[in-house]
Amino acid sequence: MTAVDAPCPDVRLTRPVRTPSTPIRVGLLGLGHVGSAVARLARTRPPAARANIEIAAALVRDPLRIRAVQDVPLTTDPDAVFLARPAVVVEALGGLEPARTLVLEAIARGLPVVTANKSLLAHHGDEIAEAAALAGVAVRYEASVIAGVPFLGTFARRPYASAVSAITAIVNGTSNFVLSRMQDLAVEFGSALSDAQRRGFAEPDPFKDVEGVDAAEKLAILIRLFAGRRVAPSDIETTGIRPVTPVDLRLARELGGTLKPVVTAEGLTSTTGPIGAFAGSAFVPGTHSLARVHYVSNGICLRAAGGSELCFTGPGAGPDVTAVTVLDDVLDAATGRAESWASAATGSLAVPPNTTWFVRVTSAVPQPSSADIATLLAAHGVWTERSAGPDTRDGRPSLALLVRSCSRPRIERAASALAAATGSSVHAYRALEAGS
Ligand SMILES: NC(=O)c1ccc[n+]([C@@H]2O[C@H](COP(=O)([O-])OP(=O)(O)OC[C@H]3O[C@@H](n4cnc5c(N)ncnc54)[C@H](OP(=O)(O)O)[C@@H]3O)[C@@H](O)[C@H]2O)c1
Repeated sequence: MTAVDAPCPDVRLTRPVRTPSTPIRVGLLGLGHVGSAVARLARTRPPAARANIEIAAALVRDPLRIRAVQDVPLTTDPDAVFLARPAVVVEALGGLEPARTLVLEAIARGLPVVTANKSLLAHHGDEIAEAAALAGVAVRYEASVIAGVPFLGTFARRPYASAVSAITAIVNGTSNFVLSRMQDLAVEFGSALSDAQRRGFAEPDPFKDVEGVDAAEKLAILIRLFAGRRVAPSDIETTGIRPVTPVDLRLARELGGTLKPVVTAEGLTSTTGPIGAFAGSAFVPGTHSLARVHYVSNGICLRAAGGSELCFTGPGAGPDVTAVTVLDDVLDAATGRAESWASAATGSLAVPPNTTWFVRVTSAVPQPSSADIATLLAAHGVWTERSAGPDTRDGRPSLALLVRSCSRPRIERAASALAAATGSSVHAYRALEAGS
C-alpha cells in the first residue's frame, strides 16, 4: 500500500473539472469494514453507472496494519485526504469524533459527504445540516438506516409519498439475531448474544445494540425524514431486549406471535402534536409483516399517504451491502442531486398512545389462575383478551396475557398491584396491532 502521509504534490483546493470519462475521486475517511468494502466495490462499474469511482486516499489510524484491500493510498493525516482532490468524501469512521469535525471540514471545503454513521446524524444532525445548507453541498445518508434496503432516498425525493403517519420497524440486526436465536434454540439471552459475537453479528461491547440505543438513534433519523422534526434519541422511550426470556418467547408463540426488537413512531403527519415513539422489545402478532423478519434481517412498515401500508425488508447491515448503498450515494452526490440531510424543526416526543400489551406473570407455586389474574387486572381497568400457559419448563409456572389497549401508566399500576397481591414477577411488553 502507498502511504500518503507526506503532502500531496499537486495541492489544489478547487474541485477537479469532470468530464463523463473522468473517474469520480473519493476521499475515504476510514478503511475498516465499510471503507474496505467501498474500496473493493469501487473497482467495479455496473452498467447503469455514469462514471468510474476511484479512491483518492483513505484515512486510517494504523497505516501499517495488513488490510483486505491493496493499492489504496493510506494516510493518518485528514488534510492529505482533502488535498487528494476528492469530488466526494465518504465518512466511514464511526462514532462522533473525529467524524463530526472531519465531516464539517469537508463541507466547509465545498465537498459533498456520504455517511453511514447514524450516531453522528442523530447527535450532530443540526450542525451538519446547517453547515451543508450554508455551503450548498449535499450530505447523503442512505446507509445509516437499514443499509441494505435503499428506501430513504426514494421517500426524500417524493414529498407526497413521504407523508407517512406511522412507522413500525426492526432496525437492529444484532438484537433481532439474539431474539431469533433464543426463540429457535430455546437458549438464554447471554448464550444467544455470545453466539452473535462469535459470528461477527455483535460488537465485543454490545451495549448500544441490546439496550436499544442504536435503534433509538435510527428512529430519530426516520422521524426527521418523515416528520421533518428533530428529536433527541435519549428522549425516546427505550427498553432494549435484555428482559426477554425463553419463557416469554414460548408463551408469545402460544399466543400466535413472537417478541421482536421494534421501533415505532406515530403522529408523524401532525405538524404540532407530539410524536409517540418507542424502541424496545414488543409482542408482534404472527400476521404482522415484521413477524417474518428474522435473524440479522431488518424491515420497515410505513402507514403511507392514502392509507396504504408499505413494507420493505432486507439486510440491515454488512459491509458489502452497505458499500453498494454508499457508492450509489457517491454517484448521486457527485452529480449534484439535490436531496440531502436537511434542517428540521424541533419536535416534541410523547409516550406512545395506548397500545395492547403482552403481560407475563411468573409465580412461586401455587400460581394464581389466569381467571384470577384477569380479575386482578380488571380491578385496575385492564381487560384481558387471551391468555397462554402455564409454562413450567424452567421450574416456576409462567402465564402470559394479551390485554386490551391501555396507557403505559395504567398497565404499570395494574402490574405492580398484581405483583404485590400474588408475589409474582410481572413484565409487560408493548404489543403491535395485527395489521401490516
Ligand atoms: N459494519 C457495517 O456493516 C455497517 C453497516 C451500516 C453502517 N455502518 C456504519 O459505518 C461506520 C463504519 O463502520 P465500520 O464497521 O466500517 O467500522 P470499523 O471497521 O471500526 O472501521 C473504522 C475505520 O475508521 C478508522 N478510524 C477510526 N478512528 C480513526 C481516527 N481517529 N483517525 C483515523 N482513522 C480512524 C479505522 O482505522 P484503522 O483501520 O487504522 O483502525 C478504521 O479504518 C459506522 O458509523 C457504522 O455504524 C456499518
